[in-house]
Amino acid sequence: MQPRVTPVTVLDAVRPVLARLPAHRRTTFELRLERWWPDLSAGVAAVHADALDVATRLAVIAAEGFAARPDELHVLDERRLLEPDRLQRPEQLGYACYTERFGGDLAGVGERLDYLAELGVTYLHLMPLLQPRDGDNDGGYAVADYRRVRPDLGTMDDLAALAGRLRERGMSLVVDLVLNHVAREHPWAVAARAGDERHRAYFHVFPDRTVPDAFERTVPEVFPDFAPGSFTADPDLDGWVWTTFNSWQWDLDWSNPDVLAEFAEIVLLLANAGVEVLRLDAIAFLWKRLGTTCQNEPEVHALTQALRTVARLAAPAVAFKAEAIVGPRDLVAYLGTGEHAGRVSDLAYHNTLMVQVWSMLAARDTRLARHALAALPDTPSTATWITYVRCHDDIGWAIDDADAAAVGLSGPAHRAFLSDWYAGDFPGSWSEGLVFQHNPATGDRRISGTAASLAGLGAGRRDADGAFARLFLAHAIVAAWGGIPVIWSGDELALPNDPYWAAEPGHGADNRWAHRPRVTDVDRAGRLRSGSDAARAFAGLAHLARVRASLPQLHGSVTPQVLLDTDDGLLVLVRRHPSGALVAVYNVTAEARPLSLPRLEHLLPGAPSSVLHDALSGHGVTAGADGIVHVPPYAAWWVVRGPAQVSPDIR
Ligand code: GLC
Repeated sequence: MQPRVTPVTVLDAVRPVLARLPAHRRTTFELRLERWWPDLSAGVAAVHADALDVATRLAVIAAEGFAARPDELHVLDERRLLEPDRLQRPEQLGYACYTERFGGDLAGVGERLDYLAELGVTYLHLMPLLQPRDGDNDGGYAVADYRRVRPDLGTMDDLAALAGRLRERGMSLVVDLVLNHVAREHPWAVAARAGDERHRAYFHVFPDRTVPDAFERTVPEVFPDFAPGSFTADPDLDGWVWTTFNSWQWDLDWSNPDVLAEFAEIVLLLANAGVEVLRLDAIAFLWKRLGTTCQNEPEVHALTQALRTVARLAAPAVAFKAEAIVGPRDLVAYLGTGEHAGRVSDLAYHNTLMVQVWSMLAARDTRLARHALAALPDTPSTATWITYVRCHDDIGWAIDDADAAAVGLSGPAHRAFLSDWYAGDFPGSWSEGLVFQHNPATGDRRISGTAASLAGLGAGRRDADGAFARLFLAHAIVAAWGGIPVIWSGDELALPNDPYWAAEPGHGADNRWAHRPRVTDVDRAGRLRSGSDAARAFAGLAHLARVRASLPQLHGSVTPQVLLDTDDGLLVLVRRHPSGALVAVYNVTAEARPLSLPRLEHLLPGAPSSVLHDALSGHGVTAGADGIVHVPPYAAWWVVRGPAQVSPDIR
């Protein structure tokens, strides 16, 4: 017999909650507690002195969530525990959209699943759908009630029904967990404003500017343009409250155990509605420490570990996805490193890859990307990336000055070039992005725009073939990096920027709405009109998903190796999987670029009778007498060895 890990006092606390369950369920929970108690108590102990009390409280919340979990979700838990690598498999394809902009409401989304299935989608991220504040609410990221769905979209029951329909189609429902802040109208904030001390302690409130001024010396502004600073004076509070984002998004004080317990309940409420992946919004900002940027503090990972363990106890089918748009050096910690390995998020946005894709296309040069991507630490084997060409947010040029310097570039100058290029202000630019949040203090200019408009398919398009090639190339790079590639709604139809983005109340100052277009049935029908932009884009992306699903080499457990010594127009990545190797070859320029065939053959060893071919087009990879392969402009090849199988090149 092994010694018991779970303290007796904890068992005494959870057993009454479990008492009404059948014996096998009680056994399951106690086995899980035995397995995960060390993670729960360690996560809590890193932030709270009274760790045993707080962790016990969380274990009881987990037991309550477990007891309330519907039977079919217990079955889902069993299923998911049998496929621990599910999120890493190459069959995964994500799609992200606003419910109302894609299907009207939750029921409307449910009626459009055939369309998503045609694209190959297995993972559907519906943007914030819980009750937000009235008026501007940052696209739903200012939540006023976590227990209620926005009434125009449906109810919690509708959400659970949609999750069920998705499960039947092999699709996982992903929703946001906004945990850095709540709306000023959330009941906790309302109580704080009414003078309730318990709730005032949910927030960072200061009587005057002394402490805010001290923090602002090192805390960068997120929305310098429409919400400058990180603190807001609130007359009801008679003080200053921390507001990293907009003045009506109040940051929570995560050093307060009540906040942790509240969110443990919310996690399980969403889990029990059938949500399979929780997107931890703005997770990097959770912990504040004077003298720092107040991002990526170690306590963020401890808190994630505590919440993650609560989910593991009650609803192990649930995965966590970190939304930490941070520099490349800080990113990997969100997937679990050091003491948090295997204990935090299963997924994190690969912001660095996204930025490097656009940087390579504008610069027609891969030196910086090769250096920066090769310098990234290996991904923990239990976790994987969300890869994306762009999302609902703007693109911030997260390029490390040291990476830039290593390849002879100036970080600030390159970032300025990228902003100019994607705003269409640089001579020769094909892009039609919009400048978002120009910060005169730092010179930063972020960029909004749909993938099509950024790639050159906007209103002023000059070279549609080149633009389509860039669009396909960008998606091919993210589809074969490893992880779940997520398509932002409308990009599969090559929709350009929405010209009417500013017309909606509250949207006028936030041009991110330009790249969050409504996708109607008429837009979707465009994919059936042969030769249309929509048909070209949709066929290309669906083809990528199909080929990807057939290639075990693209399993997310493999970290790609970036070849550093290639032609500067090429990005060449080697993926070594037990089932064989794959070499991805991308030409980011509009001219043919050279690659050595003997080198490719060396990277892809195999029987002499087998041939090298590009799995995307089915074409063989051949060279002239000099052994040089001329990689065509904007080529995206996934080279494997095997019997040649020619499939039509549908691009
Ligand atoms: C995340 C969201 C962004 C939002 C912010 C504040 O970064 O992606 O859209 O503005 O969090 O919630």
